[in-house]
Amino acid sequence: MSIIKWSDDYSVGVKQIDDQHKKLVELINRLFDAMSLGKGREVMASVFEELRKYTTNHFYTEEKLMVVYGYSEYENHKKKHEDLLNQVNELKSKFDNGDMRITLEVIDFLKAWLINHIQKEDQQYREHFAEKGLS
Ligand code: FEO
Repeated sequence: MSIIKWSDDYSVGVKQIDDQHKKLVELINRLFDAMSLGKGREVMASVFEELRKYTTNHFYTEEKLMVVYGYSEYENHKKKHEDLLNQVNELKSKFDNGDMRITLEVIDFLKAWLINHIQKEDQQYREHFAEKGLS
């Protein structure tokens, strides 16, 4: 079962980034599956950690492209990434310390930040990368 379905409306027109966004969607769905199927804490911890690491790598990839292709909003976008990563790291620490369970509320939160970010902030560089011939 999936809690998020990839839609081509989310595309930013750059295959490498779209592929990474799809992977992030898949990881949130996997976390949802683990929760729904009542998988143990270890399984959820491992998927959550993969999501955290993949998010870090994804943000790095995007930021690198922004620098290489001279995107003027780089600093602002990077700040948004930092805020999101801080939130994910905080959730992960709470989970690791046993202060939090992975609930639908947590997954809804992750889904909301990911989809909001892809649909709003990431869409803003779409035109810039297209003008630079990135696809
Ligand atoms: Fe796809 Fe700005 O993260």
